[in-house]
Amino acid sequence: MSFTINNHTKSKRVQVININNEDLDRLIFPFKKHSITSLEYKPFSRFSLAKSLDEVFENKLSVALNKIIKDRNTGTVVVKPDVNNKKFDKDFLVKLSTGLAYLVGNPNFDSMSGKYYARFYVKHSDSSDSYLRKAYTNLDLHTDGTYVKEKTDWLIMTKMEEQGVSGGESVILHLDDWEHLEELSNNPVGQENFTWGSPKSKNVDYKVEHPVFIKDKNGKPTISYIDQFPEPKNMEQGLFLQRLSDCLEESKNKIEFPLPVGSTIFSNNYFWLHGRKPFKENTNLSRELLRIRGTFFN
Ligand SMILES: [Fe+2]
Repeated sequence: MSFTINNHTKSKRVQVININNEDLDRLIFPFKKHSITSLEYKPFSRFSLAKSLDEVFENKLSVALNKIIKDRNTGTVVVKPDVNNKKFDKDFLVKLSTGLAYLVGNPNFDSMSGKYYARFYVKHSDSSDSYLRKAYTNLDLHTDGTYVKEKTDWLIMTKMEEQGVSGGESVILHLDDWEHLEELSNNPVGQENFTWGSPKSKNVDYKVEHPVFIKDKNGKPTISYIDQFPEPKNMEQGLFLQRLSDCLEESKNKIEFPLPVGSTIFSNNYFWLHGRKPFKENTNLSRELLRIRGTFFN
């Protein structure tokens, strides 16, 4: 057992788990037992993959992940495997991300891909209908799953590969570090239902209703918000969302950092917001990401 846990250099709310090369080697054999196809087709195989991941770390990885992600004081972990070797290919990263997810909970079906995970590219040119793939605009701070019926307790983002990249840093913000939390979470408009839709590429053909701010069982505010999908019904709701968006983007307490290739950000989706800075223009720009979103086991 030799992963290490440290505070991120930019914030002690973000924990960093480093996995060394030797331990990654010990994962190769158990990971070989499962093909990507069998993981996609047989949900139980993801549990056995996750168990073998945990066993390499004497079952301490699952304990660490759950503790960090559920604790309001932390809630985000960056998992940094030392993957500077060709044997740790993209299939390996899909398996590692799958294992991490299944030590914490069950993934939701991702309608964009029709699987329990989705892989997608951000490139120089884009004809899609959402900000997710627009390289040269800011991807504003948001949470995931705002427009679906399923609960989204957590999310995983793994950087599979990138080239021609300058800029495009990850940006995250903990709700309790946000200067405007009290003002906006206590505003009655933030507690009333909004209608949330989504563009065609998301393959979700219904709309949902929920407030932006909901108090958790300890009375602390949680947020479910993204700029593109709420459909304000009146001037009050429209102006509230504009103020919310401005106050999030203006925050001085955002944490910005480049995510290395092979690394995963694993965040609680109730009190962490995430986004991305714009990339510097480059016709060869290409970044591939993997995402998994889901609920906690209980
Ligand atoms: Fe997102």
